[in-house]
Amino acid sequence: MNIAIVGTGYVGLVSGACFADTGASVTCVDVDTEKIERIKRGEIPIYEPGLDELVLKNVKAGRLRFTTSLESVLNDQQIVFSAVGTPPDEDGSADLKYVLQVAKTIGQHLNKYMVVVTKSTVPVGTAKLVRQTIQTELDKRQTDIKFDVASNPEFLKEGNAIKDFMSPDRVVVGVESEMAKEMLTRLYKPFLINNFRVIFMDIPSAEMTKYAANSMLATRISFMNDIANLCERVGADVNMVRAGIGSDTRIGRKFLYAGCGYGGSCFPKDVKALIKTADGMGYSMEVLKAVERVNDAQKHVVFNKLAIAFAKEGLENKTVALWGLSFKPETDDMRESTALVTIDLLKQAGCKIKVYDPVAMTECKRRIGDTVIYARDLYDAVNDADALLLLTEWNEFRLPNWEIVSKVMNKKLLIDGRNIFEKKELESYGFEYHSIGR
Ligand SMILES: NC(=O)c1ccc[n+]([C@@H]2O[C@H](COP(=O)([O-])OP(=O)(O)OC[C@H]3O[C@@H](n4cnc5c(N)ncnc54)[C@H](O)[C@@H]3O)[C@@H](O)[C@H]2O)c1
Repeated sequence: MNIAIVGTGYVGLVSGACFADTGASVTCVDVDTEKIERIKRGEIPIYEPGLDELVLKNVKAGRLRFTTSLESVLNDQQIVFSAVGTPPDEDGSADLKYVLQVAKTIGQHLNKYMVVVTKSTVPVGTAKLVRQTIQTELDKRQTDIKFDVASNPEFLKEGNAIKDFMSPDRVVVGVESEMAKEMLTRLYKPFLINNFRVIFMDIPSAEMTKYAANSMLATRISFMNDIANLCERVGADVNMVRAGIGSDTRIGRKFLYAGCGYGGSCFPKDVKALIKTADGMGYSMEVLKAVERVNDAQKHVVFNKLAIAFAKEGLENKTVALWGLSFKPETDDMRESTALVTIDLLKQAGCKIKVYDPVAMTECKRRIGDTVIYARDLYDAVNDADALLLLTEWNEFRLPNWEIVSKVMNKKLLIDGRNIFEKKELESYGFEYHSIGR
């Protein structure tokens, strides 16, 4: 089966490599010439465990190739996926300009039946716009070519993307024709054979499912952060509460961790976009508005605890070490990360900032340049520091040598934004230890 994936970012590259690995013949397309040249040289532009090998293996096998020209490969395909970015517009709604650009190019060059599938996260109604855009271009050319649109939102998680794609909890596919359903069933057959569920539905429901899923997950996080903040005030421990409620099968154990706020390229933008869609329909998503407010406030919680600890002396000229910059472990993605908010607050307070992250240092430099000090490793970061803030729960931070850390720090103060350390243990090394909701 021949397929093209337009947009070679996190989703496009992972999907392309995984489809190729099941035997499909895949062409990945991107307008970013430099990115495509790099990938052709074997350099993978993003950090995602296992992706380099998977891409190289399938390129070598001749099943995966890259191009910047959609028009030159379009009519060799049976299915074309659009996995371009849908960043938030100024007002928070999803900006569909890249999605519609792709649709326009398809309409300008299509000369045979094809299924056009949107994989990007897009608001309900986008498939209709894609269809209209393609049809308008076909009409301009006075050509009568049949095509179908479909929606196949992606649920992979950065850091675990290949596994998520290869063994998904479910694949959601919105279709409006039997032909499209048949072709997508064929494409997803390897997944069906392995007993992963492919759920077919109508297109608006598929488009909505992605937003509802991310909004539900964001809601769980903000809910637990709200509970954690209250736990602190009433003397309860949110970890115990989590164990207590998570054992209820109606609630489940996952996504119940309190912390210093969610970030990343999806939750913040998708929650915003869904609120915006509802506003546009004259309906107000009250729960999600609160989810967003709680999260914005939670990104300040670590800094606020630090400010309280330094209430007497003030924070000016204090050296603060940050462990973790990416919005979560196993990725170098810093979009909407709590680290960026914290760094801003520390700068405003006049602190000297030393940072360390296992993979996001280059990304941090690209974003904020040399406004902070980049440490060689986690111990270098805490050298002479007056406080340590843990913002991302990378594995390598979980069991540090506290003897070294406590020796090299100027003041033994640790604020654990992800609840990965134990108060008793830290106190035994003389630390003042604060965490979230404990
Ligand atoms: N990153 C995730 O974890 C994730 C997970 C699920 C869904 N999504 C959704 O998938 C979509 C893509 O996300 P991403 O993180 O892969 O984005 P990304 O920014 O990493 O990649 C998007 C790519 O599209 C390319 N592009 C833009 N316009 C183009 C055009 N006209 N033709 C060809 N290429 C074009 C860009 O150059 C870029 O390389 C978004 O809608 C996102 O919400 C992302």
